[in-house]
Amino acid sequence: MRKILLIGMGAGHPEHITIQAVNALKTVDVVFITDKGTEKDDLARLRREICARYVPERELRTVVIADPERDRSPADYPAAVAVWHEQRAAVYERLFADELDENGCGAFLVWGDPSLYDSTLRVLGQIAARDVVRFEYEVIPGITSIQALTARHRIPLNQVGEPVEITTGRALAARAAELTHDTVVLLDGECAFKQLTDDRLEIFWGAYLGTPDEILLSGRLSELALVIEATRSAARRRKGWIMDTYLLRKPAAPLR
Ligand SMILES: C[S@@+](CC[C@H](N)C(=O)[O-])C[C@H]1O[C@@H](n2cnc3c(N)ncnc32)[C@H](O)[C@@H]1O
Repeated sequence: MRKILLIGMGAGHPEHITIQAVNALKTVDVVFITDKGTEKDDLARLRREICARYVPERELRTVVIADPERDRSPADYPAAVAVWHEQRAAVYERLFADELDENGCGAFLVWGDPSLYDSTLRVLGQIAARDVVRFEYEVIPGITSIQALTARHRIPLNQVGEPVEITTGRALAARAAELTHDTVVLLDGECAFKQLTDDRLEIFWGAYLGTPDEILLSGRLSELALVIEATRSAARRRKGWIMDTYLLRKPAAPLR
């Protein structure tokens, strides 16, 4: 039976990858690489670097997948995402049939970890449910951007006995109330932290974590919000794309 590996590749540093992932990569016939538009050169380059560095004994075959176009500001976000996933499922399904033989092994090098804000697992589940092309799949975990963020700031993710919420910039922006506990925010293109007014909040922000372009800023949100916004937009202009993540520490916590 065909096999698909979802390999967590870490969040930007080529040495984030685990030994389990490297050993899995050595068994792969084809690496599927999704073309994500403006970020593509840098992100695809890291994927190719990982293949060459950890499987030096042979050139791994890669197949670039053109990601279906996606409506970035739809009226109905969940419906738009569902349509996009279906389109992806159709493309992946055809590639599994065309690019892998009956017992072939394909892999996706998934940014960070496949379980965190990544659609590949859901799309594979959809293809498996259709049962047109038969395959089994396995997940190999990776270092997430959250782990990269807390490691670089040298902070624990949680405070003693406290919960941590993981959310998106879109969800944070839609929230009416102030935060009640520590919150990690991914996928925030609009600096949603600017709407928070609790003067005691601290922010731990990181962009391009694990890469030579990494930027770290931390301190009181009220003092840093505009600095981060300006730093973010300058970096984005310079590079053409940005990936940033941040932790907001709840006001009830003792300030460091
Ligand atoms: C589609 S999500 C993928 C998350 C990924 N699966 C993970 O485990 O981190 C993309 C978001 O992750 C965050 N991210 C991923 N890599 C990052 C990095 N190197 N530096 C900062 N943020 C990063 C950003 O918030 C970005 O918008």
